[in-house]
Amino acid sequence: MSNGSPTTVQLIFGDKTIILPVLSGTDGPSTLDISTLYAQTGLLTYDPGFTSTASCESAITFIDGDEGRLLYRGYLIQDLVERSDFIEVTYLLLYGELPTLSQRARLSEDVTYHTFVHEQIRSFYNGFRRDAHPMAIMVGVVGALSSFYHDSLDIKDPVQREVAALRLVGKMPTIAGMAYKYSIGQPFVYPKNDLSYSGNFLRMMFAVPSEEYIINPILERAMDRILILHADHEQNASTSTVRLAGSSGANPFACIASGIAALWGPAHGGANEAVLNMLQEIGTADRIPEFINRAKDKNDPFRLMGFGHRVYKNYDPRAKIMRETCHEVLEELGIKNDPLLKLAMELEKIALQDPYFVERKLYPNVDFYSGIIFRAMKIPVSMFTVIFAVARTVGWVAHWLEMISDPLQKIGRPRQLYRGKVERQFVPVEKRK
Ligand code: CMC
Repeated sequence: MSNGSPTTVQLIFGDKTIILPVLSGTDGPSTLDISTLYAQTGLLTYDPGFTSTASCESAITFIDGDEGRLLYRGYLIQDLVERSDFIEVTYLLLYGELPTLSQRARLSEDVTYHTFVHEQIRSFYNGFRRDAHPMAIMVGVVGALSSFYHDSLDIKDPVQREVAALRLVGKMPTIAGMAYKYSIGQPFVYPKNDLSYSGNFLRMMFAVPSEEYIINPILERAMDRILILHADHEQNASTSTVRLAGSSGANPFACIASGIAALWGPAHGGANEAVLNMLQEIGTADRIPEFINRAKDKNDPFRLMGFGHRVYKNYDPRAKIMRETCHEVLEELGIKNDPLLKLAMELEKIALQDPYFVERKLYPNVDFYSGIIFRAMKIPVSMFTVIFAVARTVGWVAHWLEMISDPLQKIGRPRQLYRGKVERQFVPVEKRK
């Protein structure tokens, strides 16, 4: 026994009794180790959507869903957002500790040094239709990086792994900025080494060669906060996808491309785009009850976008910070009466009082506010998930590194509950009815 909790579970199946160990993490629920279950009993476990399954051991991020706490390497997200910056958070996620001054300077230089992309990567963009969704471009171009950087593909070499990690973190804003520029028909903007990660990213999205681009420090800080808030979120769908792809030994660029693909869905990273579309569809406050009723109607597929979370059963701590940042940005930009923000506030108020949402613990999540901030910053809706992908690359890479360096790592290969046809006779085509 530890902490008064049992350390084993006894399972009786037919005439067999087996003992399964209960593992304790440093925080969070105890975990039943079923790795020997099949060998001992011939039984598989069934858990669609992994609601009760820990897919791996990790020391990177911890979410306390009931209390609404999020910690990167043990540090509260609120502290990191207020007292740190994205480069420090990148160091923390990748290496496990906050950097010293010299470690910080070194990482900043390493990331900056890797922001350029090979000139030939530019020609990839021309292959996409002008109206291509930038996430489609991201999946394609990031996957294509594997064909350019052969000297960082040997995943067994820790030095090459680190170079690949730094390349991915460094190049992601450049690739994202280029995707945006391509979509609006403007020339690509090269990275500039004396700027911060977030400042550089803003410049690559908004600068044009014909005039000087002056970075607004409030918007730079807001972008930095957004990147910190989205940098990691333990074993979410895209991170699990990266781990699964990586478990087969696939190269890091291909793995991150798979993460981008998983992130694109509206139930995951695509939600901030969906929130804005939803607010625009609602249009005016008097139509909120109609949409709330639709969200509650089980025969209607509509869901209140930006509400609910698999792990948080309390207010998403990221949403609280986003809400504050949202006000700061709107004030800085002189947007006093943004109708969408007003609508969002009203929707939030009504939903938080409605028994349907209260009983199911459906609170606003991070995506509820990020769309409004992006809109105020004149970032088009199609780029919202791209920005999420830029931030989350750090988390994906940290998880990929953690997995690859684990000596017990093996290929991820879930099993299934088969409910298809049992073996049957083949019927030649002329005899089929
Ligand atoms: N609107 C209306 N009902 C909802 C919503 C919603 N947004 N979210 C969950 N529910 C209901 C759901 O119908 C179910 O009701 P019942 O128990 O009567 O069947 C109950 O709440 C539990 O939901 P669930 O689908 O079992 O929860 P889940 O953990 O599978 O889904 C979710 C989590 C995030 C996919 C879901 O809440 C959702 O679709 N939200 C809207 C999309 C969204 O905002 N996604 C961004 C997530 S945060 C960003 C990130 O980390 O990627």
